[in-house]
Amino acid sequence: MPVTSTSTVALSDGRSIPQLGLGVYKVPDDEAERVVDVALEAGYRHLDTASAYGNERGVGAALRSSGLPRDDVFVTTKVWYDDHGRDATLRSFDRSLELLGVDEVDLYLIHWPAPAQDRYVETWRALGEIAESGRARSVGVSNFQVHHLERLLAETDRVPVVNQVELHPWLPQHELRAFHAEHGIVTESWSPLARGKVLDDPTLARLAEKHGVAPAQVLVRWHLQQGLVVIPKSVTPERIRANRDVDGFALDADDLEVLAALENGERTGSHPDRVG
Ligand SMILES: NC(=O)c1ccc[n+]([C@@H]2O[C@H](COP(=O)([O-])OP(=O)(O)OC[C@H]3O[C@@H](n4cnc5c(N)ncnc54)[C@H](OP(=O)(O)O)[C@@H]3O)[C@@H](O)[C@H]2O)c1
Repeated sequence: MPVTSTSTVALSDGRSIPQLGLGVYKVPDDEAERVVDVALEAGYRHLDTASAYGNERGVGAALRSSGLPRDDVFVTTKVWYDDHGRDATLRSFDRSLELLGVDEVDLYLIHWPAPAQDRYVETWRALGEIAESGRARSVGVSNFQVHHLERLLAETDRVPVVNQVELHPWLPQHELRAFHAEHGIVTESWSPLARGKVLDDPTLARLAEKHGVAPAQVLVRWHLQQGLVVIPKSVTPERIRANRDVDGFALDADDLEVLAALENGERTGSHPDRVG
């Protein structure tokens, strides 16, 4: 079956995640309801927020006003590095549920490992408690490098179902993806459009022209075809709709080769070893 905008990816805990979702980083709380409303109307069933984005209230308002059954929309949120440690994490999780206005989230992530604090293993155990309580259906991490994951695997008995990392053609994250594959961890791409910066690349423009689509649609398709979970962000209704309108074409082996040649290791966000 060819991958589509409604495909799901199996998680190691027996659940599944819609492969395409909407990211809402930098969407102000008072705009989030409108943006998420447009996305749900367009067919998105997966939303990616975080306590640090300050927009869980707006995201929750859109969820409720959509009238969609709670189980139809996959909601991810994340604990910020200021709240590492068991007690602060449990408090932050309660606050996220309250702001979102839900009893459970689908996926709860450690936002950054913040290695300088050295509390991500303790924080991971707290996420385990939350998972046991059923209030997060699945738990995972974000911005973990291989050495951070190795510590979780060595020191705890729970494997993250997902690692959400910066990933786009400039930074395809080969090493992490190989490690994930070995341990049944799903790779989720943040800044999948390199925050819009890769969209002006002439190679991408040529591929977009070849398929009669926009450069962002080529990129979303690139993530989907590689089995990656992808969460492009936009506040612009036409772009929100376009980023999901990717089922009418497919990238061929030549296209994938052309996109692979864009790798240059450039990050649009911070390096995980230096945050927090
Ligand atoms: N875990 C983490 O540490 C982490 C870090 C960063 C991001 N994330 C998650 O990943 C999501 C996506 O990453 P991101 O927001 O950094 O960047 P992104 O999705 O790579 O790019 C967003 C930018 O691209 C523009 N854009 C979107 N669709 C477009 C289209 N079809 N044509 C032209 N431009 C388009 C948007 O503009 P407009 O909005 O103005 O339309 C915005 O400026 C975030 O929202 C967040 O949920 C997670």
